[in-house]
Amino acid sequence: MSFLQELHKRRTFAIIAHPDAGKTTLTEKLLLFGGAIQTAGAVKSNKIKKSTTSDFMEIEKQRGISVATSVMTFEYRDLKINILDTPGHKDFAEDTYRTLTAVDSVILVIDCVKGVEEQTERLMEVCRMRNTPVIIFVNKLDREGQNPFDLLDELEQKLNISVRPITWPVNGGSNFKGVYHLLEKKMNHFAVNKTRLEDDIEVIELESDVLDQKVGTKDANQLREDVELIEGVYSEFDNEEYLAGNLAPVFFGSAVSNFGVMELLNTFCDVSPIPVHRMTDKRMVEPDEKKFSGFVFKIHANIDPRHRDRIAFLRICSGQFERGKFYKHVRLSKEMRFSSPFAFLADRKDVVEDAYPGDVIGLYDTGTFKIGDTLTEGEELQFTGIPSFSPEIFKEVINKDPMKSKQLEKGVQQLTDEGVAQLFTVQPGNRKIIGTVGELQFEVIQYRLLNEYGASCRFDARPYSKACWITAEDKTKLAEFIRLKSNFIAYDKDENPVFLAETDWILRMNIQNNPDIKFHTTSEFK
Ligand code: G4P
Repeated sequence: MSFLQELHKRRTFAIIAHPDAGKTTLTEKLLLFGGAIQTAGAVKSNKIKKSTTSDFMEIEKQRGISVATSVMTFEYRDLKINILDTPGHKDFAEDTYRTLTAVDSVILVIDCVKGVEEQTERLMEVCRMRNTPVIIFVNKLDREGQNPFDLLDELEQKLNISVRPITWPVNGGSNFKGVYHLLEKKMNHFAVNKTRLEDDIEVIELESDVLDQKVGTKDANQLREDVELIEGVYSEFDNEEYLAGNLAPVFFGSAVSNFGVMELLNTFCDVSPIPVHRMTDKRMVEPDEKKFSGFVFKIHANIDPRHRDRIAFLRICSGQFERGKFYKHVRLSKEMRFSSPFAFLADRKDVVEDAYPGDVIGLYDTGTFKIGDTLTEGEELQFTGIPSFSPEIFKEVINKDPMKSKQLEKGVQQLTDEGVAQLFTVQPGNRKIIGTVGELQFEVIQYRLLNEYGASCRFDARPYSKACWITAEDKTKLAEFIRLKSNFIAYDKDENPVFLAETDWILRMNIQNNPDIKFHTTSEFK
């Protein structure tokens, strides 16, 4: 298969949702219908299996959250589909945001009872920053939820995006009968709720009497009325608008009972983008360029505590990656080769000989990678758009065991390289402050420092609530500001100065009183 054919086969996306909306269930059903797994329950049982083999993952099990982000790849309809999983818990939101830098589109899951929730809005904001195309799956139609027309309005208003229903529910709650495909103008009616689709599906047209027989005349007429209304209100589905990130196609269904999932998967295959271009500090990189390039968006500690190595997740952006070939680690200006890069399949990892744009491969790493690192065939460029966001909780790391200060230093360094949290240094005394978006990360860090590095520490809360990266055109003005505010200045891992503010009000006052200083809420700025 040619390089271009390989490229056009790829679809790389993430499923995102407010916790409990049904992300895991939907992921599993997509894998099931895609033929990647044979039985329902595999995704969840995989989670549990991991957590029993590792102490770190025990935290995940206890808390019932998915701490790690992983990749699941399967082939369906001649496409190679890469699903990048994201942790649902809000304390790990930054991990999710970074994963979103490595996908070409997303499926956003909404609970039809709860509608748009807090985390849904934040995730959507991140998608909008990059104009990532979004498909919405309204889940749990088997529960008594909101009226679908009201839900569409809520989606438009709260998520600030135009919507276009693609499937439509026939009744809801305990009377939920399935979904009608508005574009294909037919309904796939399940004889029974089976997990395999081959034999138990019947296709029904809107006008046919069979519809009345299958769903009842009342529901059939209601559906006909709804469809007429939809066609009157919404314009034709515009694929270009979806690809530009302006229009979200909406699907209704119930992941748990399989309704609407097949329709979602098939339309996703029809409309979703092939790997798209990506920005670097020098130029735009197109996926069909001959030379390989890629970036690290995630670093995962080894699940097995006996092995210290880590796994760097590399998103391939252009060209063909080949096993054993030398590539340039741009930040370190170092040639590196990888003898056993691996691909993630739904239920196993395989060493790969080559990989193409859109693919995510795992590279064994002994500490050479940081989030955002770029690999190329020699060109000096660095992928951008993988910023750190201002943390909200700040704590100073206090060493509890003076004999282990080296281990602590190394552990803190490596864990923050992994992106578990952000590290800031303050003077005097080179004190280390860790910034996170959630309390849970401190528990994870403390636990991992002890278990993986043998270092014990405690955290002392610092009264800050925001960190802003500061710049100024006039370097002397910046130096003066840093001198005056020295008690509130820290440096991030790349030695960039950061202003730590205790309250939003203090931050606003400082912005107002120092017009020459620019305050940035993410680490990436022009
Ligand atoms: P998440 O990854 O987004 O956090 O959600 P997850 O899939 O784990 O689903 C959260 C809960 O919602 C689960 O119930 C799941 O079974 C349920 N769920 C998912 N899809 C549907 C649906 O279409 N309809 C209904 N009624 N429920 C759905 P749980 O009780 O937390 O776990 P479980 O023991 O049922 O697995």
